[in-house]
Amino acid sequence: MIDLHCHILPYIDDGPKTWSDFLEMARHAGKQGIKVIYTTPHHMNGYYINTKNDILKHVEQCNEQLKKANIHVQLYPGQEVQIHRDLFTALDKGEILTLNNGKYLLLELPSSYVPSYTHEVIYELLIKEITPIIVHPERNQGFIENCQLLFDIVLEGALVQITSGSIIGLFGRKIKSFSEKIIDHRLAHFIATDAHNTRSRTFTLNEAYETITKLYGIQQMYFFRENAELLHNGNQVHVEQPIPMRKKILGLF
Ligand SMILES: [Fe+2]
Repeated sequence: MIDLHCHILPYIDDGPKTWSDFLEMARHAGKQGIKVIYTTPHHMNGYYINTKNDILKHVEQCNEQLKKANIHVQLYPGQEVQIHRDLFTALDKGEILTLNNGKYLLLELPSSYVPSYTHEVIYELLIKEITPIIVHPERNQGFIENCQLLFDIVLEGALVQITSGSIIGLFGRKIKSFSEKIIDHRLAHFIATDAHNTRSRTFTLNEAYETITKLYGIQQMYFFRENAELLHNGNQVHVEQPIPMRKKILGLF
């Protein structure tokens, strides 16, 4: 399996703080059947600055460590970029890293609201042939309160990644229900772990795919798995026609 969103790089992010914790995380992923991990450290989120070249160097070093430790997991470079007015200046300066230097970028929104300039940023990225993947919108209060915003963003051309822990209820019942609502409305394109450690925020891709199979059937599970593979192989991912969402999700909150 392929994990497109993970904070496994040691020292530079809010993931492992030692080499041994890093190796433990990688071993854990391998046991879960995850053989390809996109390392996506935070960037411009107010706490972490991790520019493209620094990440590329670090990933190379980490892959060497995995080889030495005989852990059969391959790391690929990526970045989780917080939406920011200076995003395009950073892009021009070569500080932004798309997934494996391809055409997809993990874009994080603040957890409490959807900035008014989000549409503008998505539009400008698409013009530059970069497709933003909005990470974990199910945990964004702005989308929870006005889910039509998510529909509009997907209609504009952005893709959506749901966190595996949300699907299996690790963030509570409301987040799980909203994740399901997003899938029901064909607004989700990827599932990824966003793992930070081997305890509270670990690799739960298997569990999430099992839950999706139970809830929606095996086709939906393969839709997500294949999309991760298509992206990894540089191919066009599957996108369905999104269904508009009502402003308030009745009976949910
Ligand atoms: Fe993340």
